[in-house]
Amino acid sequence: MYDRSARFYDAIYGWKDYEDEVRRLLALIDAYRGAPPASLLDVACGTGKHLSLLRGRVAHLEGVELNESMLTVAREHLPDLPLHQGDMTGFDLGQRFDVVTCLFSAIAYAGAVEGLRKAARSMARHLNPGGLLMVEPFIFPDKWNDGQLHQLVVDQPDLKISRINLSRRQGRVAVLDMHYLIGTPEGVEHFVERHDLTLFTPQEYRSALEVANLAVAFDEYGLDGRGMFVGRPAD
Ligand SMILES: C[S@@+](CC[C@H](N)C(=O)[O-])C[C@H]1O[C@@H](n2cnc3c(N)ncnc32)[C@H](O)[C@@H]1O
Repeated sequence: MYDRSARFYDAIYGWKDYEDEVRRLLALIDAYRGAPPASLLDVACGTGKHLSLLRGRVAHLEGVELNESMLTVAREHLPDLPLHQGDMTGFDLGQRFDVVTCLFSAIAYAGAVEGLRKAARSMARHLNPGGLLMVEPFIFPDKWNDGQLHQLVVDQPDLKISRINLSRRQGRVAVLDMHYLIGTPEGVEHFVERHDLTLFTPQEYRSALEVANLAVAFDEYGLDGRGMFVGRPAD
């Protein structure tokens, strides 16, 4: 999935304002929890960008990530943080946190609705009493534009990337075949990585969190306009 692109991930998403997102995340946590968190677990943490910007603002940080290549990059950036290899649909760290996050639509990799429910359960069981689960959804099915052509370009002195994909929907799943052409001083490579992202409905997200015994709220804007589901352990 990210096996070959992981080491270029931070350059590819250089346009994303992680600093602003972390500011908004902390403001949302404050609004829903009324107190700053002492501990936070980021599930599907990728290269650890959110975690690295949360340092110094949250005392205890940990991450979970499935993909080994992403985890390798995250561990290079954050050698002092516990970063676990795990699958969001079934991990158990034997610990609880004030906040558990799953950001940048990573939840859409959970598979079908049963996978979404398993992920919600796995994440919810890592919450302290009074904790918060924050899930940033993927695009909702009615907002999906099929057949769109996308190109992303990175143009740095020692790194040239062109990533092109044609988005197509297969039933409930958005299939993104990312075609990469990447040049570095070591040479030029091209490869394709396929991403299957499920187009869950707002009701499916909500009910997955409710089945995990959470009371659910939805913030329309979230971190960057995708919205944010916020779950709190029900009394
Ligand atoms: C779009 S990236 C988001 C990474 C990071 N949260 C960010 O905001 O930059 C999605 C991440 O989810 C990870 N992922 C996909 N399926 C997963 C699973 N079942 N369990 C844990 N992580 C998974 C991918 O490897 C990738 O790092």
